[in-house]
Amino acid sequence: MKIYQTKNYDDLSRVAANLIGAQIIQKPDSVLGLATGSSPIGTYRRLVEGYNNGDLDFSQIRTVNLDEYRGLPRENDQSYYYFMHENLFNHVNIKESHLPDGTNPDSDAECKRYEAVINSMGGIDLQLLGLGHNGHIGFNEPADNFPKYTHCVDLQESTIEANKRFFESIDDVPRQAYTMGIGTIMNAKRIVIIVSGEDKAEIVNKAFFGPVTPQVPASILQFHPDVCLVADAAALSKSPL
Ligand code: F6R
Repeated sequence: MKIYQTKNYDDLSRVAANLIGAQIIQKPDSVLGLATGSSPIGTYRRLVEGYNNGDLDFSQIRTVNLDEYRGLPRENDQSYYYFMHENLFNHVNIKESHLPDGTNPDSDAECKRYEAVINSMGGIDLQLLGLGHNGHIGFNEPADNFPKYTHCVDLQESTIEANKRFFESIDDVPRQAYTMGIGTIMNAKRIVIIVSGEDKAEIVNKAFFGPVTPQVPASILQFHPDVCLVADAAALSKSPL
């Protein structure tokens, strides 16, 4: 694992966007796996800047997102579909983008369909990840095993609590989501995980310097051959560097 320690969130966003930008330049028809949440907003802003100043061309880039809330239609401003369009897709010349369809009531069919979409693209060249406070990646919550493929999850209370800031009330936070599995994520050729803030310092230490266990889903990344952890000094403040 390569660790890039940055001064702050801005710096982290610059480094992550440079790593993704390098991927786009080296392989213009890359399949990018993307994340939502607070962590990648600055990275996406930098990628949009790169497109606007002519450094980056997304015309052959295809993307697959990690996850989507179950039950939220695309036009809901809390859907990940909406988030991705607001923060990236509406601002660059992306060729093709995919997310799980949160409105498909047949969860088995939706999970199979999404996994097949990823496979039909030849897999993911670079997967961008954020890290949850409980160690989740995508919506793979702490569990007794590592789920292999795209599946439907019941969100943990701590995740519902963390996400309620985006909804009018906690009752509006969806209780389920579709997410790539740990196996889907681990099949990506390269992984860039971005983590910012002191509130994540404890979990960064557990995930990247502790034992590999499904109780800390991100810890499995220690077994991936090509992971870049891009984290600011605050997020690394409890890690033995
Ligand atoms: C988002 C996702 C989540 C987030 C994680 C961190 O698509 O899959 O795993 O990456 O919850 O969220 P933030 O960045 O908001 O702290």
